[in-house]
Formats: sequence, C-alpha cells, structure tokens
Amino acid sequence: MIKPRKAAIVGIGHVGSHVASALVTQGLVSELVLIDTDRAKAEAHGADLADTICWMPHSARVWAGDYSDCADAELMIISASGPIFKEDRLEELAGSLDTMDEIAPHILECGFQGLIMVITNPVDVVASYLRRKLGFGPDRVFGSGTTLDSGRLRRNIAQALGVSPMSVEAWVLGEHGDSQMIPWSRVTVGGQPLELAPGGKELDRQEIWEKTMKAGWNIVLGKGSTEFGIGAAAAQIVRAIFFDEKRILPVSVLLDGVCGQQGIHASVPVCLGAGGPERICMPIMAQEEEQAFIHSCERLREFEPALINR
Ligand code: LAC
Repeated sequence: MIKPRKAAIVGIGHVGSHVASALVTQGLVSELVLIDTDRAKAEAHGADLADTICWMPHSARVWAGDYSDCADAELMIISASGPIFKEDRLEELAGSLDTMDEIAPHILECGFQGLIMVITNPVDVVASYLRRKLGFGPDRVFGSGTTLDSGRLRRNIAQALGVSPMSVEAWVLGEHGDSQMIPWSRVTVGGQPLELAPGGKELDRQEIWEKTMKAGWNIVLGKGSTEFGIGAAAAQIVRAIFFDEKRILPVSVLLDGVCGQQGIHASVPVCLGAGGPERICMPIMAQEEEQAFIHSCERLREFEPALINR
C-alpha cells in the first residue's frame, strides 16, 4: 500500500490551526493529527477542517488525537508555545523551553521516527534545544526559520519595483528575528541581478530590511498573532518534503561550519526533499553580508549556554 502523507501538529492555537488549514486546503496531507492540551479546541478545529474536505483538492483525514496517533507520521510540526510577547521573540524563550520540556517525553514515548519542524519562537533556539533534548540527528529537527521572512522580503521588493513577488528571488538568512540579514548581492528580479532591474539601484535597502524584520510584530500588534503568512510558509516547506521537491528554502538547521558557524541553528538556504533538510546550499555572499550573517549567528549563540545548563 502507498504510504499516506501523514503529519501531526502539536499546538493548535492561532499558528497551528492556520498551518493545519493550509495543509488541508493545498491538499498536502492525507492524514493530519491535531494535538493540543485543550482537547476540546483540537476536536473543534478537527471537525471544522473536516467540514472542508469535500471541497479540497484531495481528501484527507483530520482528527484530534494524541501522541500515540502519530508514531507513524512522517512529519511532526511543533507550534505549541508559552505566552506570546510583543516586539521580541527571544522574550518568549523561557515559556517555549518549558513547553518543549513537556512535549519531548511524549515524542520519545510514542516512538516517533519522522521529521520535526519547529515553528515555536524563538524558533532557532527552540529547534536547537528540542533537537538536543530528543537526541535526534541534525537532519531530523529543523525550524521553519526565515522562509516566512523571505516571502515578506520578496513582497516588499516587488511592491517597490512594481513587479510580482513571484518574479523576485530573495533570501532572509540568520535569525528569525531582529538580527536577520539580507544577502542583497543574491537578489534577482525577473532572473537578473537587482542592480540591473529597473529601479533596483534606487531601492532603499535599509527601509526594506526594517519593513521585513518588523512585519511580524506589526501584525501581532494589530491582531495578537500572525497566522496566514506562517501557515502558507510552513505549507511550502511541507510540500517540498512530502513531494520530494528538492526545493531550496531558508530553514533553520544545525550549521555545519558554513561561514565558520557550527553548533547552532540558524536559517540558511537548504535543499528540502523526502529526507527533510538534505543539504545546505549557502550562496557566496559579499564580505559585509557574510559579516552580517555571522553577527546574526553570534546573537543566537548567546543563548546556547542557557540551553546546555537547563
Ligand atoms: C512571524 C512569527 C511566526 O514572524 O514569528 O509571523
């Protein structure tokens, strides 16, 4: 029998429920288990999503379950967190680590053998912590990272140049947070370097960087959480894995020495396929861009001692 595309989402709040909706709406899963400490909420979201199935691209079984239901899932998505703070994702660290301490034993007990994508913020540090706590290899636990930020960057550049975001290729790398950086030398518009695109030279790069970095907070300040963007970004990552696309997206992985950085999770372009994060595809960057990437990694490294001594 062909193996179903089975995923589980742990934490069915604003983020988890919108990731679930994106996966079902895009027909990316055949089975989806919703796990939350609030079982009634998980069941309500499951029933609500099940109501959509007859109009979706593909049928799918969506239900509220527990960890024993996802031992055979290929992918587990962790969006459970502690309290959400405004303005700095790193302030959410303590609550998120407490949540990971609650979740990790369940993952081990149920014998889960698949991949884990962490969305819980601060995602880079939380993915690093959870991977070590579970004792899983670097290819099995990764974070959604700056795929969402890169989508925001593409939109901001496209808006400034009067083209579609689909015609802009651009990365945000490093921390999914305030120290994130943009390798401008790698940005292309319509397949040509940014500098050669009409209006590309005049682009206010600092303004675009700031608008991209603050996008999440502006939404959180307006409605208490982001939902649609992270749901769509997470779905792109899941699609690349479940359909073995070998698609290169910026996700937060354990660095292997790229730019002299290792031992921490940060977002770099990664080839995603059936094996999950299969290999890092770091672009050659200008010297000042490499320094900005290293700065972002050093910012994340500041939190490593707290993880090890926890
Ligand atoms: C955001 C959250 C997911 O940037 O950190 O929307």
